[in-house]
Amino acid sequence: MPLNRLILTIGLIFLSVPYVFCGCRIVQTFRGVDKYNCDSIQDLKQYGTSDMLDLSITGDKKVHVLNYNVFQNTPNLETLDIRRSISGINNEAFRFLHQINTLEISFNDDFTVITADCFGEIPVSWLSLSYNHITEIAPGAFANLKKLKRLDLKSNSLGKITKGVFSNTPVETLSLSKNGIRLIEENAFNGMENLKNLQLDGNRLTEFQAESLINPGHKLQILWLHNNSFEEISRNTLKGLDNLKLLNLLDNRISKILPYTFDSVPNLETLILSNNSLESIDAEVFPEGGMPKLKSLLIDHNHLSFLTTRVMGKLLNLKGIRLGGNPWICICFDTILLWLNDHSVKLSCDEDYFQGSRPICVTTEASTCTYTIDRRSLKSYLEANSKLPPPKKYCFP
Ligand SMILES: *[C@@H]1O[C@H](CO)[C@@H](O)[C@H](O)[C@H]1NC(C)=O
Ligand SMILES: *[C@@H]1O[C@H](CO)[C@@H](O)[C@H](O)[C@H]1NC(C)=O
Repeated sequence: MPLNRLILTIGLIFLSVPYVFCGCRIVQTFRGVDKYNCDSIQDLKQYGTSDMLDLSITGDKKVHVLNYNVFQNTPNLETLDIRRSISGINNEAFRFLHQINTLEISFNDDFTVITADCFGEIPVSWLSLSYNHITEIAPGAFANLKKLKRLDLKSNSLGKITKGVFSNTPVETLSLSKNGIRLIEENAFNGMENLKNLQLDGNRLTEFQAESLINPGHKLQILWLHNNSFEEISRNTLKGLDNLKLLNLLDNRISKILPYTFDSVPNLETLILSNNSLESIDAEVFPEGGMPKLKSLLIDHNHLSFLTTRVMGKLLNLKGIRLGGNPWICICFDTILLWLNDHSVKLSCDEDYFQGSRPICVTTEASTCTYTIDRRSLKSYLEANSKLPPPKKYCFP
C-alpha cells in the first residue's frame, strides 16, 4: 500500500475517534430546539453547555448518585430525561436548573429512596419518576415544587402511601399506578386543591374511603381504581366526590354494591364496572332521582343475569352501554334490549357477543323474567365463555 494511502486511513480513524467518544451530541432538532444526548453523567459534567435545553441520558454504564455539580454547566435545561443511570439524588441536586420544566428520571433499578430536599424549589411542571424501585418518599419531598402539575410515580414499589408526602402540592394529575399499594393513610391527599386525576390502578387496595383521604374543596374528576382487590363498594367509597366524572373499577372482585353508593357522585358521566363478580345491581345503589349525568355504563364480564326496570329507570340519560360476557337470561335480556332501543342507547364493544362468536344469553324454560339468579345457568355460562379466547379488553362505548 502506498504510504499516503496508509496515512489517510490512519487519519480517518483518528478523525472518527472524537466523534464517537465525545459523549454528548445533537440527536434531533425539533421546532428549532436541539435535543442532546450524553452517554454518561460524567460526559454531561465534562461536555455540558449552556446551549443545552433538552437533554437525555439513556443508560450510563456506571450508576451514579446525582450531585448538584452535574448540572453546573447546563443551567438552561428545560427538559431532562435520565434513564438507567442513577441510584440516588443528593440534596438540591437540581439547584442550577432555574428553567427546568419537564424532568423524567425512570428505569433506574437501584433508585429506591426520595429524600426530603432532593428537588428543592425547581420550577418543574411535569415530574416523572416512573419505573424505578422507589420504596420510600420523605414527607415534604415535593412541597416546594410550586409549579408541579403532573407527578408520575407509576410502577414503583411504594406499598403504602403515608400522610404528608403529597399534601399541599398543586398537582393536577397524580399517578400511583402499579405500586403494590395496600394501605393509604388517612388524609394522605389533604390540601391537594387542584387534584383532578388520581390514578391508583394496579395496586392491592381492598378499600378506599374518599372522605378520609382528601379534605373537602378538591376538584377530583377522574379516579382510577381498576385492577385492585375490591370486593365491595359502598357510600363511604365515594362520599365527598361531588365533582367526579369518571370512575374506573375494572378488574376487581366486586360482588356487592351497597345501597346509596352512587348518591354522592351526582356528576358521574362514566362508570366502569367491567370484569367483576356482580350478580345483581339493585336500584337502591343509585339515588332516588336517578343518575342524570351518567352517559356511559360498562358492566360487561360480570355475573349478571338480569337488570330490573327500576334500575334502568334510573339511567335517565344513558348514551352507551357495554354488557357482553354476562350470563343474561335470554328472556330478561330481551327486555333490556327493548329498553335500550327505546332510549337510543348505543350498544358498543360487544361485537363478539352480538355477531355470534360468543354466547350473549342463556335460554331457560322461564316464560317471564322473574329477577332470580339461577346458579346452574350462571355456572355453565361462565364455563363456556371462559373457554373462548379473551375478548377485546379496552373499549369505551
Ligand atoms: C394489574 O396489576 C398488576 C400489579 O398489581 C400488574 O402486574 C398487571 O400488569 C396489571 N394488569 C393490567 C391489565 O394492567
Ligand atoms: C378479568 O380479570 C382477570 C384478573 O382479575 C383476568 O385474568 C381476565 O383476563 C379478565 N377478563 C376479562 C374478560 O377482561
